[in-house]
Amino acid sequence: MAYTSSGPNFMWIIVLGLALGLVHYVPRAEAAPRAFFVFGDSLVDNGNNNYLATTARADSPPYGIDYPTHRPTGRFSNGFNIPDLISQSIGAESTLPYLSPELNGQRLLVGANFASAGIGILNDTGIQFANIIRITQQLQYFQQYQQRVTGLIGSGQTKRLVNQALVLITLGGNDFVNNYFLVPYSARSRQYNLPDYVRYLISEYQKILQKLYDLGARRVMVTGTGPLGCVPAELGMRGSRNGECIPELQRAAALFNPQLVQIINNLNSKIGSTIFIAVNTQLMHMDFISNPQAFGFTTSKIACCGQGPYNGIGLCTTVSNLCPNRNLYAFWDPFHPSEKANRIIARQILAGTPQYMHPMNLSTIMALDSMA
Ligand SMILES: *[C@@H]1O[C@H](CO)[C@@H](O)[C@H](O)[C@H]1NC(C)=O
Ligand SMILES: *[C@@H]1O[C@H](CO)[C@@H](O)[C@H](O)[C@H]1NC(C)=O
Repeated sequence: MAYTSSGPNFMWIIVLGLALGLVHYVPRAEAAPRAFFVFGDSLVDNGNNNYLATTARADSPPYGIDYPTHRPTGRFSNGFNIPDLISQSIGAESTLPYLSPELNGQRLLVGANFASAGIGILNDTGIQFANIIRITQQLQYFQQYQQRVTGLIGSGQTKRLVNQALVLITLGGNDFVNNYFLVPYSARSRQYNLPDYVRYLISEYQKILQKLYDLGARRVMVTGTGPLGCVPAELGMRGSRNGECIPELQRAAALFNPQLVQIINNLNSKIGSTIFIAVNTQLMHMDFISNPQAFGFTTSKIACCGQGPYNGIGLCTTVSNLCPNRNLYAFWDPFHPSEKANRIIARQILAGTPQYMHPMNLSTIMALDSMA
């Protein structure tokens, strides 16, 4: 008898306990994916330039042809770009462009994308594109973002959100292709020989990284430049005969990338913590550029969308050649990898060995930070 009457009471305690447990569980901040902030150029721009008067844009077809909506978004890809795939890896929604009117309220807590196609380390890089968000302006927007979020969740929580966030910065390629090497006898190439120019770029980049740290960034993935001399644009414009990469641009990347790793090591040891992680995009690209078939590509030389030799001349537009199957091409347009290539790169970012991700890959970062 006593048994049957105590039964329902016991049940109620469990139900109540579960309900209370649930109430406790739902608002836990740790349950939300960490915020993600993106800085840099067209390789990582999610659409900021759609809101600017510039010629550096990807907001008309066939850009976005393989995106879930099959419409252009401003990403320089047929589908997802690298930041999208990183967002997916950390279980988050894609970051919205900082200039998007949709980036407000709770959506601010996902992070933001400040990148702008055409920019470089230097202010004079990309001047031909007129209105673009140069890196110092991107950092100012990051400050402004933090003020906006402070209005939403307070300064202590905002600081925590920024400190715990993942950050990606991609800069440098345009300082070569859209500045030093843009025209013969460019102003910068008359001012500096290549090694001195690279040293100058690196010293400016170091200041930018230090500023990111000062603004609260604590896990920053810094990509080197890809193989600049192997992109269809350079093969086409500089008359590559049999698809061989252009030596002077390859030399630029070969000078720049190791020095970038060096300032990353220096900054980390000065700060006494692994803040900056070097992403070896050069190696990640060279894997499929030197052996495209092993990755399911029929070519790593010819862009899917473009015209002229290697489809490397001019812009990708509605009147360009367009390949039927984007997964067979390493390059979507004359400068930018296809979504398929971005997936190969994103997989290395997530799980690559220290040769690709120095000193550690994103899986290790996430495992370490979840224990903190
Ligand atoms: C670029 O411009 C910004 C804003 O005008 C300035 O603060 C910064 O020092 C400039 N950078 C270089 C390398 O000249
Ligand atoms: C990440 O890096 C670590 C250390 O180099 C390695 O052991 C691991 O296999 C890599 N991949 C994943 C998914 O953790």
